[in-house]
Amino acid sequence: MVELSPLGFGVSGAHGTPLVSPMRTRNLINAAVAGGVRYFDTAPSYGAGECERRLGQSLKQLGRSDIVVSTKAGLSSHGIAGRRRDLSPEGVEKSVRGSLGRLELEGVDLLILHGAAPHELNVALLERLRALKQAGAYRWLGATGRGAALDWALDAGWFDVLMAPVHPFLRTGEEATLDRARSGGCGIIAIETAGDAPPALRSPRSLADIYPLAKRVRGLDPGRGRVGVPDGLRQAMGRPGVISTLFTTTRADHLQDNLSQSLS
Ligand SMILES: NC(=O)c1ccc[n+]([C@@H]2O[C@H](COP(=O)([O-])OP(=O)(O)OC[C@H]3O[C@@H](n4cnc5c(N)ncnc54)[C@H](OP(=O)(O)O)[C@@H]3O)[C@@H](O)[C@H]2O)c1
Repeated sequence: MVELSPLGFGVSGAHGTPLVSPMRTRNLINAAVAGGVRYFDTAPSYGAGECERRLGQSLKQLGRSDIVVSTKAGLSSHGIAGRRRDLSPEGVEKSVRGSLGRLELEGVDLLILHGAAPHELNVALLERLRALKQAGAYRWLGATGRGAALDWALDAGWFDVLMAPVHPFLRTGEEATLDRARSGGCGIIAIETAGDAPPALRSPRSLADIYPLAKRVRGLDPGRGRVGVPDGLRQAMGRPGVISTLFTTTRADHLQDNLSQSLS
């Protein structure tokens, strides 16, 4: 049975870049723990491993045994634009070993496969995943992706959790996938809870604010809509089947907004 705190902090985005100092990331992680967050998510593709390094160092300094960590496999990043998919058994094992080294952990609680296609969810991968679990590399298995990838993961029947967008602008088919996960006993970790439209542009107040601007310049999908992050978190937490809701932030005031409003 997967148990996560209702709110999780994603160490992602600008935390994998020099726009946010490692000290700032650490302070936010510490403040999140002080505010009751016990679940942290990251990935090897976030800042080409830098987010995993920062999370690992922060957790080591905190020295707590009650923190749950997830990382992902299947997608890695190389520099600002380079992303590589590899869901072969060898690729997944290499990715997991790299993640554990950067996180300085013997195992993570939750390993999440990123966007696997049906032909990749094969017996060879399942056997490799079983061996990794047996060796203590992870406890629970999850899948993430968009659209059909989430249904393929449910079809496979391998996964304890589905990490999926949960926001007020979902289409009927996306809602049906979430209902299917819930009725099949697969816990939902909610992401993009504020919606899939990019945040409103604002003048940068700190170096970290350059990150969303740069993403915008790279040309994002306009998306369907957006609500405030605390509002989105609160709505997602109330959805049946959701076992945790993820947010990320580079700002202490946003962290407190998210913690207080979503726990109220
Ligand atoms: N599996 C996947 O494919 C996938 C995809 C996306 C995300 N994720 C996971 O989900 C986590 C959350 O990602 P998300 O896309 O859902 O992001 P989000 O929490 O909606 O955050 C998006 C942006 O909103 C801003 N923000 C946060 N709190 C705010 C507040 N109270 N008021 C105003 N602005 C606020 C943040 O900027 P500031 O720094 O300015 O606060 C942040 O850059 C990620 O860290 C990652 O762990 C996974």
